[in-house]
Amino acid sequence: MKAIVMFPEGGMPQYVENYPEPEIGAEGQALISVQAVALKHLDKSRANGTHYSTDTPGKPKVIGMDGVGFLEDGTSVYAIGISGMMAQKAIVDKSRMVVLPAGIAPAVAAALPNAIAGSAMALRYRANIQAGDTVLINGATGFTGRNAIQLARYHGAKKIIATGRNEASLQHLLTLGVDEVISLQQPDDSIISRLKEIHRTSPIDIIVDYTWGRPAELILETLKGQGNFTHRTRFVTVGSMAGDTIQLSSEILRSVNLHLTGSGLGSWTKAEMRILLTEILPEMLQLAVEGKLKVDVQTLAINEFEKAWEMDVESGRRLVVVV
Ligand SMILES: NC(=O)c1ccc[n+]([C@@H]2O[C@H](COP(=O)([O-])OP(=O)(O)OC[C@H]3O[C@@H](n4cnc5c(N)ncnc54)[C@H](OP(=O)(O)O)[C@@H]3O)[C@@H](O)[C@H]2O)c1
Repeated sequence: MKAIVMFPEGGMPQYVENYPEPEIGAEGQALISVQAVALKHLDKSRANGTHYSTDTPGKPKVIGMDGVGFLEDGTSVYAIGISGMMAQKAIVDKSRMVVLPAGIAPAVAAALPNAIAGSAMALRYRANIQAGDTVLINGATGFTGRNAIQLARYHGAKKIIATGRNEASLQHLLTLGVDEVISLQQPDDSIISRLKEIHRTSPIDIIVDYTWGRPAELILETLKGQGNFTHRTRFVTVGSMAGDTIQLSSEILRSVNLHLTGSGLGSWTKAEMRILLTEILPEMLQLAVEGKLKVDVQTLAINEFEKAWEMDVESGRRLVVVV
């Protein structure tokens, strides 16, 4: 079968024409004919061994954690792979599948779930979003950030503030329901003073963070109190595009009513994961079919994969490999 394989020698994953098909190894597994697999940061960092969930290397491995395709009875599903999914066939866990709604494009169905996990789980379970909340999305210009904006609005956020670097992409966010955008391409003082003014007039309830690094340091500096009572802010980090570590002063944590947490594989309970698969994903995929959730994808055929790995994808878009 055609597959994209990471070899233990390293380098970038390779397109292979005659890779052996995987076989069902246990009860509860199913064989899927794959149609489309999104190339996400998770897949890239698992392939090059830098993600915390990476398997022990040593053997060639098909990349791609999740994707969409057909079961043997023809049912169209999104599934999380037991074997790597960027291949014509994959083995999936029957308990970690979602039947796709009619009318959804395979590339959209492949692109959305990771971004929904990266936004809905943070907003609903880590930040406990309530109607009327003021939400700041840091790194909102990315594919997952754009999804978070739309979900925050869907859950009744009163005000949404978005930060990002790409100016055109920031302006586009205003069409998705953002009330104010703040460029991360300005001096630190300007970012802090604008955020302080916003926090003074509309106290920020939730911060969903996709960058960590310096932008997160600036936001936390903004929240720092002066010994008076402060507004309770829930800060959820979901990604680390600007660096995996920050400097965090004890004074910030002591001077503000801050709940600082993270959302990702390993942080969710089994019950939350079950709700993601049985309720949240079906609901969001249906919203995408109805055009109520805007999704921007770019596709590439599997045999062109070499171009995909280093491709400069437009801000806010997801690259999807069509198998
Ligand atoms: N934990 C989870 O469940 C989960 C799920 C999905 C995603 N994630 C993580 O969330 C992050 C964003 O994912 P995504 O799908 O939105 O990726 P994406 O579509 O590639 O977007 C990347 C985002 O990061 C910004 N960015 C990149 N480098 C930056 C820097 N040095 N400083 C400031 N901003 C920077 C980009 O800004 P511009 O476009 O404005 O340049 C863009 O907003 C990744 O770390 C990803 O692994 C986590």
